[in-house]
Amino acid sequence: EKKISIAIDGPAAAGKSTVAKRLAETLSYLYIDTGAMYRALTYCALKRGVDVNDEKGLMNVLNDTYIELKPSERGQLVFVNGEDVTELIRKSDVTNSVSYVAKHPAVREEMVKRQREFAKDGGVVMDGRDIGTHVLPNAEVKIFLLASVEERAKRRHAENIARGFPSDLEQLKEEIARRDKIDSERAVAPLKKAEDAIEIDTTSLSIDDVVSEIMKIVEERV
Ligand code: C5P
Repeated sequence: EKKISIAIDGPAAAGKSTVAKRLAETLSYLYIDTGAMYRALTYCALKRGVDVNDEKGLMNVLNDTYIELKPSERGQLVFVNGEDVTELIRKSDVTNSVSYVAKHPAVREEMVKRQREFAKDGGVVMDGRDIGTHVLPNAEVKIFLLASVEERAKRRHAENIARGFPSDLEQLKEEIARRDKIDSERAVAPLKKAEDAIEIDTTSLSIDDVVSEIMKIVEERV
């Protein structure tokens, strides 16, 4: 059986990571959360007091930041220079700055290089915003996940509460909409459905439904 690459793109909180993780488990593939990489850089930049608009400053941080994505029973763990930042990169300071960091062409160029290196042997499920359009344009399966802002905010709210994070539903709606707008309007590799991606609206679907729909597509192509 051939080991393929699967690209999962879509707006914030559309269920990409949950679905991608489940697919990777089912197929014994590697799961690569590219959003976590932009978040890890944002976390390091904020910690070092580097402005999110300072591309040179961000590149200095990125060039001495070793980002590792490690699978574990609790899901994927994220390390920067050996420090476990899995939880820290989900906090609202990082979430609300990350789209500014991800706008810079030099930052994206370096991230894409690292992402392709992670994916070079195939057998990967990679989620993000530009995977089907830029990072893995030859991925055998490309999925674009959508859901209404209301539904996405509700899901993220429930997730925050489960994690013990403070959470406000109305504020989440605004933050998600703002992040989508910045991600869709940026000049380099904006959030966009690849022409050959299959769109799935998850608003009224369960995770199981989405995973089995994608597995059907995968089984046709391996
Ligand atoms: O997927 P997640 O919501 O964790 O991504 C955080 C942010 O990282 C996105 O809002 C976007 O600004 C950026 N990102 C990106 N390209 C990717 C993945 C994430 O620009 N491939």
